[in-house]
Amino acid sequence: MFEKRFEEYEKLNFEDVHSSILPYLAQLSGTIVDIGSGSGRDAAGLAEMGFNVIAIEPSHKLLEQAKSRHQSPNIKWLHGALPNIPNSLKNTSNDAVLLSAVWTYIRPDQRGEAMLSMSGMLKEGGYLFLSYRNKISSDCDQFYEATIEETSRCALAANLHFVKSFEEYDHMKRDNIYWNVLVYVKQISAKPNL
Ligand SMILES: C[S@@+](CC[C@H](N)C(=O)[O-])C[C@H]1O[C@@H](n2cnc3c(N)ncnc32)[C@H](O)[C@@H]1O
Repeated sequence: MFEKRFEEYEKLNFEDVHSSILPYLAQLSGTIVDIGSGSGRDAAGLAEMGFNVIAIEPSHKLLEQAKSRHQSPNIKWLHGALPNIPNSLKNTSNDAVLLSAVWTYIRPDQRGEAMLSMSGMLKEGGYLFLSYRNKISSDCDQFYEATIEETSRCALAANLHFVKSFEEYDHMKRDNIYWNVLVYVKQISAKPNL
């Protein structure tokens, strides 16, 4: 289903789609993990901003298409899907994770584990940027509703603390669709002094 939408994803502009989080990105450097990287549009945008990018995508076909469209020495392309992640990424210390338009494809009973996986890839002080849309549309055959409350509960259980939320219009201009963009920061609670 996602493969045939490759060109539609590519038509969108990275800076427009992610305008809310650009001020956060501007303060960061290092490595960003783009999960559910789709056409590779965002991986390419981030690489152009100077980041090293690890792009993870479950569709082999999309991964191949993205790799050949966006050839950059600063992007590493990996096959994988939440809630599991490639072993090479477990317990790594990346600066941010981008989960753009993927959360509503993850079953609610797998979201806790998915958050733990994402948190496990972040260093302390690292950011998670997560966006999801409010409702299903005709172009999508799988959709699990999400709310800020449920998402933030899962996040907190993985030491990801809510920072800010934004509401965005749909850049594909579909009727009655809007987007929530959520920002979290990894903060491991201080251990009590014994
Ligand atoms: C709507 S597209 C968004 C693509 C890209 N992130 C963007 O913002 O343009 C959803 C993407 O999530 C991927 N996806 C679906 N289920 C996933 C999962 N469990 N883990 C990671 N990616 C997933 C799909 O293969 C597809 O590339």
